[in-house]
Amino acid sequence: MNTQATIDYGPLTGLIGSWHGDKGVDVAPESDGIEHNPYYETITFEAAGDVTNAEQQQLAVLFYRQQVSRQSNKQVFHDECGYWMWDAETKVVMHSLTIPRAVTLIAGGHYHGPDNSDNVVLSVTARRDDPDWQITQSPFMRDNARTDEFHHQIILNGDSINYNETTILNIYGKRFEHTDQNTLKRAKTS
Ligand code: HEM
Repeated sequence: MNTQATIDYGPLTGLIGSWHGDKGVDVAPESDGIEHNPYYETITFEAAGDVTNAEQQQLAVLFYRQQVSRQSNKQVFHDECGYWMWDAETKVVMHSLTIPRAVTLIAGGHYHGPDNSDNVVLSVTARRDDPDWQITQSPFMRDNARTDEFHHQIILNGDSINYNETTILNIYGKRFEHTDQNTLKRAKTS
């Protein structure tokens, strides 16, 4: 991995740094219905350099860690890490993530912007049965709390991030739209 300062992270560049938001809204499944969880969180994106695959594909890479806490009891209830990757040649954006429920995925998509309002929009999707961008999970999760789809959009605007995530689950015998959204501000560096 090359970690030189000259690497072009393309549309991911503006993400680098630490972000904090306390207006998160989580909609999650419960055996007898739906749970709504207001949350706060920190996400840190670090420049991780670039890699070359099969001597031809070059990816610029950010590593991230997301830690999410319930407003009600201040406990971390979602902990996620992974990479965002940018292929400058094909303009494909990739997002890999792992959560400690034994679920992992690699989502792919594109970006557009900056538009007239300076928004850069990153959109990625993975599906369990997609030939390209897939979800992998343990046998227990597959049989009891299956993740079928994942859709994630980030709107980046200077020192503000707004994201929407929809994770389609099959749990308690039915389809459930598990959603998360938040607005984060860039943490000041001293
Ligand atoms: C901000 C992001 C997220 C938050 C705050 C969150 C929170 C939650 C909560 C509260 C539950 C209900 C179970 C519990 O109370 O522990 C849940 C269930 C679940 N989440 Fe998430 N989640 C997030 C993102 C994701 C993502 C990205 C995935 C997978 C791609 C995922 C997969 C699942 C699965 C498979 C379950 C079912 C497990 C169960 O309820 O037994 N979640 N999540």
